[in-house]
Formats: sequence, structure tokens, C-alpha cells
Amino acid sequence: VGLRVNHRFGSYEVEFLPLAPAFERLPRGSFVVTDQNVRDHWGHVIPKEFPVCTIEPGEQSKSLAVYGVVLEWLGESGADRKSTVVAFGGGVVGDLAGFVAASYMRGVQFIQIPTTLLSQVDSSVGGKVGIDLEAGKNLAGAFHAPAAVYIDVDTLSTLPERQLTNGMAEIVKMGLILDVSLADELAKGGIANLQPLVERCIRLKAAVVEEDELETTGKRAVLNFGHTIGHALEKVNGYRDVLHGEAISVGMFLEAKLGERIGVTRPGTAESVARVLKAQGLPLTCLGLHQTEELMQAMAKDKKALGGSLAFSLLEEPGRCKLVSGVSASEVKAVLNEAA
Ligand SMILES: NC(=O)c1ccc[n+]([C@@H]2O[C@H](COP(=O)([O-])OP(=O)(O)OC[C@H]3O[C@@H](n4cnc5c(N)ncnc54)[C@H](O)[C@@H]3O)[C@@H](O)[C@H]2O)c1
Ligand SMILES: [Zn+2]
Repeated sequence: VGLRVNHRFGSYEVEFLPLAPAFERLPRGSFVVTDQNVRDHWGHVIPKEFPVCTIEPGEQSKSLAVYGVVLEWLGESGADRKSTVVAFGGGVVGDLAGFVAASYMRGVQFIQIPTTLLSQVDSSVGGKVGIDLEAGKNLAGAFHAPAAVYIDVDTLSTLPERQLTNGMAEIVKMGLILDVSLADELAKGGIANLQPLVERCIRLKAAVVEEDELETTGKRAVLNFGHTIGHALEKVNGYRDVLHGEAISVGMFLEAKLGERIGVTRPGTAESVARVLKAQGLPLTCLGLHQTEELMQAMAKDKKALGGSLAFSLLEEPGRCKLVSGVSASEVKAVLNEAA
């Protein structure tokens, strides 16, 4: 099974296949980047001939320091312009290794083998790669499309429950912004079979990304629904105690409220958003929500913010989303204060 994603320089295939054949398909001269958890569970499938760089698990590894370590490792290991960097892990490994691949010798081939639900449905497709800076998340990066994405949903069997739920947040987001029938299904609760769901989300994301690969028209920005507030929540929590999906879950709920408040979002939508999030075990509140000042400061540094005014991807109603700029800080503050 596969689907093809087009990008400015060509296209790539997203294929569903077990890990062992996926690794067999890797070209000679592959260099594998993974993290310690993934290596502990699945490291045995990596062919011995491939050099492996194992980073510490967690968002803290999406840093300039670790980026430097991986680049130096490629250099020391003799990687050349024909080498392939393989990201074997979750979104942290994918974003970091992808940025390494984008910049090593001005760019080498990159292949994704995502192992978390979040990375399978979201971060492995679309070509955005990067790291965090002290000033905020994902502030240094590039567009570097993979040459291939290999997905084995069986890798999710070792994923902790909390991480699985975390990935559901991006799936709920896809439904809310693009596919109301998906959102309705998710509002009913449990999902028995993950692969069709993953495939459906990738199709949705791929369609958006193909229309606005470099995020210039605002079309791709809809994928950031929940993320302006979500990223701020992650930041005030030091990227530790609140996971990305948990933060954007709270972000989606509050941005739905914000949308209602400023008249962009149909009244009652925040209720529907809350219902689907709850059905998937996702939070409507989290640590750090009372730190209004810090959150506002973090949002001012959001990549969508321009010249002092904030921009949000807001729902018009479930299934329809648009980028809204010029949102005044006082409206945002009011929503945060009400929630804290
Ligand atoms: N590039 C994009 O378009 C994009 C989109 C969404 C999110 N992201 C980024 O993705 C990152 C989050 O990704 P994530 O949620 O995958 O986090 P992650 O990579 O930190 O993985 C979560 C945890 O699961 C562990 N793990 C991974 N696979 C496992 C497995 N199969 N079994 C057991 N444990 C496993 C990891 O070691 C880690 O502890 C964030 O940095 C976010 O900004 C990027
Ligand atoms: Zn996200």
C-alpha cells in the first residue's frame, strides 16, 4: 500500500510496510539517527552495516547542541553527498535528523521511518524539519522533503499509552480543520484499526501541503490550528511536562473559544471541539495555563505573528479552518484568563 506526495522538486512515496523490509530497502550509505527508547525496542532491526547515532529521547534533543553532535557524527563517520540520513523514531528524531540532512553538505537524501503515532500521521510528511531555539519552538529549520516514508503501525505496540493519545491530538486536528466526518467518528471514541486512520490523515495532510508547500498562501497554515496557544504552553512548561499533542489539545479548545469570541467561529463549536477531545482522552486544561504573561510573550514570538499582531488558524466550524491575522492581544488574554 502506498500513496504519493508531490513537492517542488519531485515526489515521494509513503508506504506501509513492516520494519524489516523497510530497512532492506534503504540504500547503501545510509546513516541512521534514532533515540534510545526506539533503539531499545526496535534497534535489532537495523542492519549492522549502517552506522547509528542514538540521541537522548525527548524534545530537549531538538536543540542546536544535539544538531551539532549529529552533524559532526556524519562528518566523522565519512558521510558524503551521496549518503542518506534515515530518521528512525518519533517527531523529535524526524525533525532533527531532517534538518541535519537538509544542511549536511548543503543537503543529502533523507528517509523517514516514523515510530510514533504523531510522527506517522503528521511530522513525517510535509518536509518541515528543524530544531528549537531558546526563543521558541521550531525557530530554526528548513523545508527538506524526504525521499521516502516507510510506516509500520506495529511499532506503535511499544508506544506508551500517553504517547498514543498524544498522537491522537493531531488526528483530531485533521478532522476538525479538514474532514468533519472524521471528527464525528473520533467523537464516538475508540479506534480499533490504526492503519486506515493513519493513511486517511496522511492523505488529508498531503493535499494541504501540496497546495502550499512553503506556507506562503495561508493554506498550509490551517495545520497550525491549536498550535499558537499550544506552542506557548509547551514553552512555559519547558517542553517537558506537557507533551506536544496535549498542549495543542488545550490549544484547539481555547482557540475555538477565541474564534467564537471574535466572531470567526460558529457558536457552539468550542463545545464540539471539547467533546471530540474528551472522547479521545485528550485534555482541555494543562499546567502553565495560569501564566498568562509568559504565554502572551511566547505567542508574540510565534512564526505567524507579524509586526506585533497575532495570527491564528481558526475554525469557522468543524471541518473548516482559515488563517486569521490581526487578532488583538487583549482578546487572547481574555480567553486565557477565563480558562486559567
Ligand atoms: N515537522 C512537522 O511537520 C511536525 C509536525 C508535528 C510535530 N512535529 C514535532 O514532532 C515532535 C513530537 O514528536 P513525537 O510526539 O513523536 O515525540 P518524540 O519523538 O519525542 O517521541 C515520543 C516518545 O516516544 C518514544 N518512542 C518513539 N517511538 C517509540 C516506540 N515505537 N515505542 C516506544 N517508545 C517510542 C520516544 O523515545 C519519546 O520518548 C515535536 O518536536 C513537534 O514539534 C513536527
Ligand atoms: Zn503539531
